[in-house]
Amino acid sequence: MTHDLREKGYWSSEHCFSAELVRNLYVLAQSWEQNGRFSAAKIGRGDTKSREETIRGDSTCWVDDFTEHSLAEYHGAMVEMTQRVRQECYLPVRNLEAHFAIFPENSFYSRHRDRHQTVHGEQAPRLLTCVLYLSPWKAGCGGELLLHPETASSIEIRPLQGNFVIFDSEMEHEVTKTLVPRWSLTAWLRG
Ligand code: OGA
Ligand code: MN
Repeated sequence: MTHDLREKGYWSSEHCFSAELVRNLYVLAQSWEQNGRFSAAKIGRGDTKSREETIRGDSTCWVDDFTEHSLAEYHGAMVEMTQRVRQECYLPVRNLEAHFAIFPENSFYSRHRDRHQTVHGEQAPRLLTCVLYLSPWKAGCGGELLLHPETASSIEIRPLQGNFVIFDSEMEHEVTKTLVPRWSLTAWLRG
């Protein structure tokens, strides 16, 4: 994992989280959605935030509390991963923030980077983006994640249920139009 991250700027695996945990997280996200906890995602920061469906069409729900059983298991695994990245990639990752995301039918997220310019005095920048895909997917459903490294050709990551990808937040990437609702749990590791 850390070798690929260092060399290529990304790593993905379908075997990082158990099928049971992925299903439990999916069920949890669905119940939170039914309870109205999701809201339309915005772009920009602070005062300049706005809803732009021509750029991104997802709805998100931040996870502030990881005490629920499946979230605790997920969080434990992410903390372990953070420690490995610190030791083996020499990246000063420390904090984790996470949200569930739903891309409804026919939505997408155009090409962007997750690392915003750091403004003096603000929290540390996002260093790594980690996405765990929760909903069933098969070829033809769309909603692929395309990574665009600067010095190599683009890489397509399929949002298969249980697939997990981790990539440099500085890398440009996009989500192609999905033809089915696409659920995920995304975390960012910050300094
Ligand atoms: C994001 C993002 C990628 C994905 O939320 O910033 O780029 O595959 N997500 O869901
Ligand atoms: Mn992104």
